[in-house]
Amino acid sequence: MRIFLQILLALAVTGGLVMAAIILIPVSRTPMSQLPPEGWEPEAGAGEYVMRAGDCIACHTADGGADLAGGRPIESPLGTIYTANITPDPETGIGGWTLDQFRAALVDGLRADGSHLYPAMPYENFRFMTETDIRALYRFFMEEVPPVRNAVKEPELPFPFNQRWGLRALNWLTLRHDSGFTGTMGDPVLDRGQYLVEGPGHCAACHSPRTVYMGQDGLKADEPAFLTGGYIEGQEAPPLRGPQSVIRKWPIGELTAFLATGRNFASTANGEMGLVVEHSLQYLSDEDIIAMARFLKAQDGQPHDPPETAVPEGPLALPPAGTDQAGEATTRMLSMAPPYMPLGARLYLDNCAQCHFVTGRGSPDIFPALQGNSLVVSEEVTPLISIILHGAKVEGTDKRPMPLVMQGYADRLTDSEIAELASFVRQAWGNDGTPVSAEDVKEIRAQEPALAQQKDGSGRP
Ligand code: HEC
Ligand code: HEC
Ligand code: HEC
Repeated sequence: MRIFLQILLALAVTGGLVMAAIILIPVSRTPMSQLPPEGWEPEAGAGEYVMRAGDCIACHTADGGADLAGGRPIESPLGTIYTANITPDPETGIGGWTLDQFRAALVDGLRADGSHLYPAMPYENFRFMTETDIRALYRFFMEEVPPVRNAVKEPELPFPFNQRWGLRALNWLTLRHDSGFTGTMGDPVLDRGQYLVEGPGHCAACHSPRTVYMGQDGLKADEPAFLTGGYIEGQEAPPLRGPQSVIRKWPIGELTAFLATGRNFASTANGEMGLVVEHSLQYLSDEDIIAMARFLKAQDGQPHDPPETAVPEGPLALPPAGTDQAGEATTRMLSMAPPYMPLGARLYLDNCAQCHFVTGRGSPDIFPALQGNSLVVSEEVTPLISIILHGAKVEGTDKRPMPLVMQGYADRLTDSEIAELASFVRQAWGNDGTPVSAEDVKEIRAQEPALAQQKDGSGRP
């Protein structure tokens, strides 16, 4: 609500001046950034690869709908926006769009008729795509994607946010970078990683905070807020730099394994990040996954020697046994199970310890650790409560085919039991989360399951 009021105020103040400018200055498309060499043609598969790197499918596909035919609802603080049909259907999709019109959607956030797209489409990031990638992508959409007729709903936003011309003002504030990409890391592999993270991968769209104008704060590696953490669809996208980040805590080979398979020695990718792995990252080459991981380490000032492979073959070694005191204390208490043990700890022993263990460290690649886990300690408690209520699932990938499934406890535990349990895991083994109340749980129980993958038709609510 506070953000909403801030936006209103910001809009009102700038309103008058901007109105005049909007009326007087014509809309223009940014010309192509870097001319491809004479006679350049995309290689076979190049466009599809960029589509994967840009994760177009995750957003542009509705539950149960045809790939890329649009209609997925995207919730914003102001209302719901539906993704466009970007199959080449001439009436309801982008059939007949010219390359210039297509480029303008990606780099300027413009539709074919020159009206503005809502920034739920990550053109702030796609603006950094190279001209060759844009052309390969265009060719792929026009020639390889089957046209699907699907008319998508109009955005459900209150006045004045339903006025697309108003977005023009927003774009003057947010589209402040030149289009195209020039690496700044001084090394071709790191530059490639930087390109994928800043551009097509649009990691900042979730992992950077937002300004009061809802633009991304920190689009490029040299900006202080870059990847310092954000929120998306009720879930925290944790910081990817700084002392608390997994970029510091995970060895580089575990970072690459997480990106490529959604699981590693400590954690699993749920909700929005699960979708990113499922539809995008698992399709990238090992070289590109390693390039991104090296870049992420380098932008945080960490050593970044490449791992031998992006995903190690076979099962991983167990993580080193805990030597930290806080971890030891909880582990000892749970192992001895004294009668005075608090209710939350007892519930953990009865319901969770067989998989996540008394150590809270789980088992690599199968049961994620709850100790030091970003989702467990996050200020945003909905995902944790939602997982306890409804369970969770990480899809299988080529390199780790077995899906990971946890069942829910909605029928077995009461609101106050779940509150005790969640409060316990948020503070066990040195975790520094705040307690959760039964009221919180009640509210979350009444909502739709929070994490996107639970709506995937796998039988859970
Ligand atoms: C984070 C979600 C998200 C991702 C990822 C995404 N889009 Fe979009 N896109 C949207 C939304 C939402 C809209 C509609 C916005 C509106 O109505 O103003 C849209 C609109 C578009 C449009 C305009 C279509 C029209 O008819 O107006 C094009 C073209 C487009 N996207 C292409 C792509 C391509 C290509 C990719 C992958 C490289 C991609 N998008 C990735 C959310 C996304
Ligand atoms: C659509 C939003 C979205 C995008 C795009 C996205 N992420 Fe994430 N990411 C998340 C969320 C949400 C989480 C938390 C997942 C969880 O708790 O299971 C996350 C978790 C992570 C984690 C684990 C962090 C931790 O503390 O456990 C890493 C590493 C990561 N993302 C890297 C990336 C990279 C690299 C990119 C770009 C290629 C990216 N993400 C793009 C939303 C996103
Ligand atoms: C039968 C084994 C099993 C039991 C029992 C179990 N879990 Fe899980 N849990 C899993 C698996 C497998 C995953 C990975 C699936 C995923 O993350 O989507 C998981 C994931 C999680 C996650 C997400 C971690 C992350 O990195 O995103 C949390 C939190 C969690 N479990 C908490 C609990 C709690 C609390 C209990 C007790 C109420 C519990 N689990 C009981 C197997 C289990």
